[in-house]
Amino acid sequence: MKMTFNLNGNPVSVEAPADSTLLTVLRDYLGMTGTKEGCNIGECGACSVLLDGRLVNSCLTLAAQAQGRTVVTIEGVRAPDGGPNDLQEAFIQYGAVQCGFCIPGMVLAGEALLAANPRPSRIQIREAIAGNLCRCTGYQQIVDAIQATASQRLGRSNHV
Ligand code: FES
Ligand code: FES
Repeated sequence: MKMTFNLNGNPVSVEAPADSTLLTVLRDYLGMTGTKEGCNIGECGACSVLLDGRLVNSCLTLAAQAQGRTVVTIEGVRAPDGGPNDLQEAFIQYGAVQCGFCIPGMVLAGEALLAANPRPSRIQIREAIAGNLCRCTGYQQIVDAIQATASQRLGRSNHV
């Protein structure tokens, strides 16, 4: 089956079996290996991507569901100069990255939250990342990084 969608700002067309998950198509057909395969049953969030701006588990999403839509993977999250964006920098600064396996999904969960709610409380941040498991950090640093980015972005938007 041929599937066409927008991936990280570029149109892509891929031929894959109709029952392929979006995770499989992203990793195995399109080389987007930043999207991680953890549990493969919708429980860990390592495979999180944005589908039309909404956080989804790509292991539970058929690639065919992306037809004509917009997909953002961690490869599509970056600063204009191609380096880490402000949220990714905050993850580094706050020590929110250890083994790194959960981080692509965490960053995308953070971006989805900040797009929908630029001023989240710590509880709302915890709720937003509730579907993303991290076995390393204890979550505090991740919450700190997302909260600091929210404050920085609000500060910047207040000065334009
Ligand atoms: S790999 Fe998709 S939720 Fe775990
Ligand atoms: S940093 Fe290791 S799973 Fe989150």
